[in-house]
Amino acid sequence: MESGHTPVLLKEVMEALQPARNKRMLDATFGRGGHSRAMLVAGAEVVALDQDHEAERCALSLAAEFPQQFTFRRGNFSSLASVNDELGPFDGILFDLGVSSPQLDTAERGFSFQQDGPLDMRMNQEGAVSAADLVADSTEQELAEIIFRFGDESQARRIARAIVHARVKEPITRTVQLAEIVEKAVGGRRGSKIHPATKTFQALRIAANDELGVLREALTATPAALKKSGRLGVISFHSLEDRMVKDFIARHSTEEIRGDSYAFGQPNPDYCFKKLGRWMPGEEELNANPRARSARLRVAEKIL
Ligand SMILES: C[S@@+](CC[C@H](N)C(=O)[O-])C[C@H]1O[C@@H](n2cnc3c(N)ncnc32)[C@H](O)[C@@H]1O
Repeated sequence: MESGHTPVLLKEVMEALQPARNKRMLDATFGRGGHSRAMLVAGAEVVALDQDHEAERCALSLAAEFPQQFTFRRGNFSSLASVNDELGPFDGILFDLGVSSPQLDTAERGFSFQQDGPLDMRMNQEGAVSAADLVADSTEQELAEIIFRFGDESQARRIARAIVHARVKEPITRTVQLAEIVEKAVGGRRGSKIHPATKTFQALRIAANDELGVLREALTATPAALKKSGRLGVISFHSLEDRMVKDFIARHSTEEIRGDSYAFGQPNPDYCFKKLGRWMPGEEELNANPRARSARLRVAEKIL
């Protein structure tokens, strides 16, 4: 916990990806380097990516500790294909999606309404669009779509309407300000354990960082970036990501495509993976780290 972020499903990741001497791993979401460190200690070479400046700062100390084994690149994992051209292919690729605890806990990053901060939510501090930009510039319809699609929020229309009304009076620039607008729009907390703004915040974060778009792009590049017998592991934290990962692995681990238009199965040009399974944190991990609650690890092995 020294780094401020406890790596999730660490034992499962190590067992599934099997980092070891003479293996080259890609940690596509370095964060505070918990998974990278464990892979380095196991003797593997690690190439790590993260789009966040603070993650890069943290990576410097790991680079000093493991100068022969560790390489860091600051950037979006959507550039995985070019990282592979330069530094691949890999024996294992890990994505541990979402935000790190330090990102969540730093009020100035604007990811959380637990503490007041600017309504930012960009993982890459140089990113073009912040949550405040979305809230200021989207139409009511666009906001409702974002909140419904990325937040799975049944009250999306009501919330979008309240945001548009509120922003006419004054710009919405702070996290607590937005949380209060949402809470009022849905009629208070109504005894729910989760704050009524939780889904709206998730939706704006996903939209501001184009999280699903970059994940799709990165996943598409993984078959070419893995050596034969290399393994892909993805930890996701919400159902939209998890569904995308599940569908991606399913599509690439099916030998034949069947359809109404042909009598026999056709060879699937994407076939290259074998599904190895799905893991969730056990009780012990959840007791030690409640933030692991919604984590799901899916693993596939490249067989062709
Ligand atoms: C859950 S944390 C990873 C924690 C890490 N495994 C550890 O043990 O410390 C997710 C990290 O991925 C980074 N990240 C998320 N999406 C990214 C993307 N598209 N490109 C690069 N980095 C990304 C975030 O900035 C964050 O630092």
